[in-house]
Amino acid sequence: MTPQDSALFQAELEEAGATLVAAQQPEWPDASSVRSAVETLASFPPLVFAGECDVLRTRLAAAARGEAFVLQGGDCAETFADATADNIRDRIKTVLQMAAVLTYGASVPVVKIGRIAGQYAKPRSSGAETREGVTMPAYRGDMVNDFAFDEVARVPDPQRLVRAYHTAASTLNLVRAFTTGGFADLRHVHDWNKGFVTNAANSRYERLAHDIDKAMKFMAACGADFDTMRTTEFFASHEALLLDYERPMTRIDSRTGLAYDTSAHFVWVGERTRDLDGAHIDFVSRIRNPIGIKVSSKAEPDDLLKIIDKVDPDREPGRLTLITRMGCGTVRDALPRIVEAVTASGAQVTWVCDPMHGNTFESTSGYKTRNFDDVVEEVRGFFDVHQDLGTVPGGIHVELTGNDVTECLGGAEKILDADLGSRYETVCDPRLNHQQSLELAFLVAEMLGRD
Ligand code: PEP
Ligand code: CO
Repeated sequence: MTPQDSALFQAELEEAGATLVAAQQPEWPDASSVRSAVETLASFPPLVFAGECDVLRTRLAAAARGEAFVLQGGDCAETFADATADNIRDRIKTVLQMAAVLTYGASVPVVKIGRIAGQYAKPRSSGAETREGVTMPAYRGDMVNDFAFDEVARVPDPQRLVRAYHTAASTLNLVRAFTTGGFADLRHVHDWNKGFVTNAANSRYERLAHDIDKAMKFMAACGADFDTMRTTEFFASHEALLLDYERPMTRIDSRTGLAYDTSAHFVWVGERTRDLDGAHIDFVSRIRNPIGIKVSSKAEPDDLLKIIDKVDPDREPGRLTLITRMGCGTVRDALPRIVEAVTASGAQVTWVCDPMHGNTFESTSGYKTRNFDDVVEEVRGFFDVHQDLGTVPGGIHVELTGNDVTECLGGAEKILDADLGSRYETVCDPRLNHQQSLELAFLVAEMLGRD
């Protein structure tokens, strides 16, 4: 990365963005402290490398062709306080376990992408939150303000942008250590299950791990080379929401002269910011990372085609991932016309199903929740639609944690509305817990194997 070129490019980004509407940005209390935080970020080393983003693009292209399957998962909103070794390890273990279930169950390579090491900013449907008659600015993620419902805590603080970088750096460091330091060796599939409370999904995993173990021993006895199995690729992703974070992290790769947002390998534009003429679509159209766009049932195919023309004018496989989040009752009706229009445009997008964000509702007891069965049903609808149209269901995008939280209803342990309060820990959307995540992986492996 060349500092001068990067500085020039960052200035160009700001200039281009200045005339565009950037939705969902915080109201920082004063301009000079934001400027100083942005300059500090621009002086920091990149978190990921251009070459790694390029590798991910080729993996996503494989998923678009049906030669791999994407598993993208992690918190809805990461917090600084929860960036502990145990939490990070358990989330990675959960994703590795799900990937093992999918790989073994459907004999397909799994592209592992965490919603991790940067998922600290949240779009909100309202700029304010009212509790018992008291109104405060909404919580916009740890990168902006604090979750505590308190006048001081809710004031946006630009120093949080800098703290987000440091937390992302230490998280990513651990992710890299776990996934390349021997822990992710496929001969340790059993170990990934250790430390989790025994339950039905766990026991099923244990049996699968036993089968994988046997297969590995058989291959070892045949003299197979295990070098590729010692480490695993694990990519980082988050929503590119706060431009005051993403722009200074964007650097020019000295090898190619191209711009990469080095805050993550993969960044996506959310449902609320994918405005064709807005600053977010403009930003992602100028960077070389593989890009995701969330697509709800409200998306107009024509608008989507214009977004594709802007972000993926060359129709490059792996460049664009469309993450559809329709809702389980809507996916079968709404998805086909979108898939048909995109296919007709010649774009070779990777289709990924987010079965979470179209299925959120408030339970009778007042918790924001999702039904495990609705999540499964949306994935099933996604697979059915793609099968009908002869297109490729390329992956899933889920909000999950390695902890035994009670945030989503149902699953084998049948979490009820009355149970939600016992371990409801998310600061934003409800996540699948460890057991529900494994269960989902087993079900998706069956759907994938069926194709
Ligand atoms: C999210 O992924 O957490 C999110 C806010 O999703 P969407 O933009 O699809 O609503
Ligand atoms: Co969410």
